[in-house]
Amino acid sequence: MRIEMYTDQSLLDERAAQLIADVVKESAQPILGLATGGTPTGVYDKLLNIYRKGEVSFNHVTTFNLDEYVGLPASHPETYVSYMNKHLFDHINLPKDRIHIPDGSHPNPAEECLRYDRALEEAGRIDLQLLGLGHNGHIGFNEPNKTLIRSTHVVELSPQTREANARFFDSIDEVPKKAITMGIGSILQAKQILLIVKGAAKADIVKEALTGPITTEIPASLLQTHPGLIVLLDREAAAKLDPAMIAPPCSSAT
Ligand code: F6R
Repeated sequence: MRIEMYTDQSLLDERAAQLIADVVKESAQPILGLATGGTPTGVYDKLLNIYRKGEVSFNHVTTFNLDEYVGLPASHPETYVSYMNKHLFDHINLPKDRIHIPDGSHPNPAEECLRYDRALEEAGRIDLQLLGLGHNGHIGFNEPNKTLIRSTHVVELSPQTREANARFFDSIDEVPKKAITMGIGSILQAKQILLIVKGAAKADIVKEALTGPITTEIPASLLQTHPGLIVLLDREAAAKLDPAMIAPPCSSAT
């Protein structure tokens, strides 16, 4: 595991975007695993900058998003498909048929999960999986539990997750109670994982997830087992870590 800490959020976002762009440039048929939420919006902005400078093209890229709410129509502004269109897909030359996001409005979500897993399997291994971190240690929407599920599945969102995401809706009652998420097995199969965490409110869970025991009660702790894990933290999120664990910021971003 490599942990980098950035005092400047913009440099952190740039570093993440550059890592993504490098994978896109280096692979003949790159597959990206993408995340939504508040954390990666700056990363997508920086990736758009790189694209607009003509340094990267997405016409050969395939993407798989981690998750989607169940029960919202795709046109709802807070679906993850709307988020991805707004922050990235509407602005780049990524062919629409190479974009994969679970369909949360599917009448049979279990069937949709099977379809998603088939698409993942047919595509092959994800080259780089971008992840944010839930306040409770979730990755994707794999919530803390006694057991975790390997493949794509329907999940009941925890009260803490619904509360955290209420900021995107008019009220907490509007936050969906269920979601479809890629399973922990698919996430861990990615060749490289890029975990990004920002803010003081996540300092404790960062420490637990990266240095505590590996447990399904903190799904992100399983990332400790991944040989290709890069973690980018801002100063606040890194505050509880032993400084000896932290590598200096990468020079390409300074
Ligand atoms: C989003 C996702 C979630 C978020 C996490 C952090 O696709 O899978 O695991 O990464 O909930 O969300 P933010 O970034 O809003 O704090």
